[in-house]
Amino acid sequence: MKTDLIVGIQWGDEGKGKIVDMMAQNYDAVCRYQGGHNAGHTIWVDGIRYALHLIPSGVLNPKAINIIGNGVVVCPEALIKEMKQFENLQGRLFVSDKAHMILNHHIAIDNAKEKLRGDKAIGTTGRGIGPSYGSKIERSGHRLGELRDTKKLANSLIEFYDENRALFNALCIVTPNFDELKKELDDYASVLLPYLADTTEMVWGLLDDKKRVLLEGAQGTLLDIDHGTYPYVTSSSTISAGACIGLGLSPKDIGKVTGIAKAYCTRVGNGPFPTEDFGNEGQMLRDKGNEYGTSTGRPRRCGWFDAVACRYASRINGCDQLAIMKLDVLDGFDTIKICVAYEIDGKRVETLPQDLNNIKPIYESMTGWDSVVGCRKYEDLPQSAKDYIRKLEEVTGTKVGIISTSPDRKDTILL
Ligand code: IMP
Repeated sequence: MKTDLIVGIQWGDEGKGKIVDMMAQNYDAVCRYQGGHNAGHTIWVDGIRYALHLIPSGVLNPKAINIIGNGVVVCPEALIKEMKQFENLQGRLFVSDKAHMILNHHIAIDNAKEKLRGDKAIGTTGRGIGPSYGSKIERSGHRLGELRDTKKLANSLIEFYDENRALFNALCIVTPNFDELKKELDDYASVLLPYLADTTEMVWGLLDDKKRVLLEGAQGTLLDIDHGTYPYVTSSSTISAGACIGLGLSPKDIGKVTGIAKAYCTRVGNGPFPTEDFGNEGQMLRDKGNEYGTSTGRPRRCGWFDAVACRYASRINGCDQLAIMKLDVLDGFDTIKICVAYEIDGKRVETLPQDLNNIKPIYESMTGWDSVVGCRKYEDLPQSAKDYIRKLEEVTGTKVGIISTSPDRKDTILL
């Protein structure tokens, strides 16, 4: 059996939550493979609001198990807080003992370095993501499995703090003493140890038993550490290939890949965004689409669909189909623009360059429509909305398989 995979193909916040939540109902297991509690979405079920940052969306399907893979960076405090929203997670949530931890000093370093960067700040979520992945790559990180011996772990961290005292002093970061640290780690261990597992063996077992496994990507392709708009990216491999590393799968284990894109584009944080609209239309997209960050509440930058970036993202992820989200947010626009190429130094460019600064988008304009809100059948879409979808297929080279016409799970067109 092969896995199915959901991946964002813009700068995150594409609406993966709605699709994963919808699909999770039909899967035996849902797995996260990268990122941390920088991700986030809200799901309403029977009038109750659930905020998910680390726990996969399968948690709302009582029959599914949920796996946080080795590629995720886990803030124990954030995970424990999130777990409190649910009863009886035992046997339904498994966390890789190889996943690296985000500890308080990572969060403090993230925020202190952002301040130092001044107007070159990345605009991180301040969750300690970069410093934790940094420690992992530098080989000074700590895995969740180390919570099995908190005395040894606390000693190792105190040694690390002492060795790096000059850095901590320069950044005005106060580190805990042994007793404070040991107590904090003991608190984490008392809750989390029962959930730690060899999640790689577990996923292999599920696939061998022909169980349906859904892999849930976080953030988006253009925030990928290698293939995104570096350095204005997150610190993980957000593309589909990241699932192999972040769960211990082989490329042959990946089956159908669904790329999630908004019908327009948004970005939160700093960095290049060729189709950003600084005028009224950008503000209309922000207001109508309620484009404010789930994790940080920051207003998102808004603009038009960038087909150059999405074509690249579709290829790099191997997308079999696209899900076009928030089509209803484009309701009422007389004209809708699609960026089909870039102008760089007076030349037309149709591929994504390494440097996305000083690019002029080349737009094609499409006729708008009155309303698609709540449409559940393709036939019910106005002709201009159908034309827009067909145009997106043409310019991205990928078929559209899902269209979302409101936040409601039911307001979804399956093609
Ligand atoms: P970090 O992941 O907190 O280090 O932030 C790095 C960049 O990724 C910043 O521009 C963030 O705004 C962006 N980012 C991180 N997580 C998300 C997400 O879930 N959605 C959208 N942008 C994100």
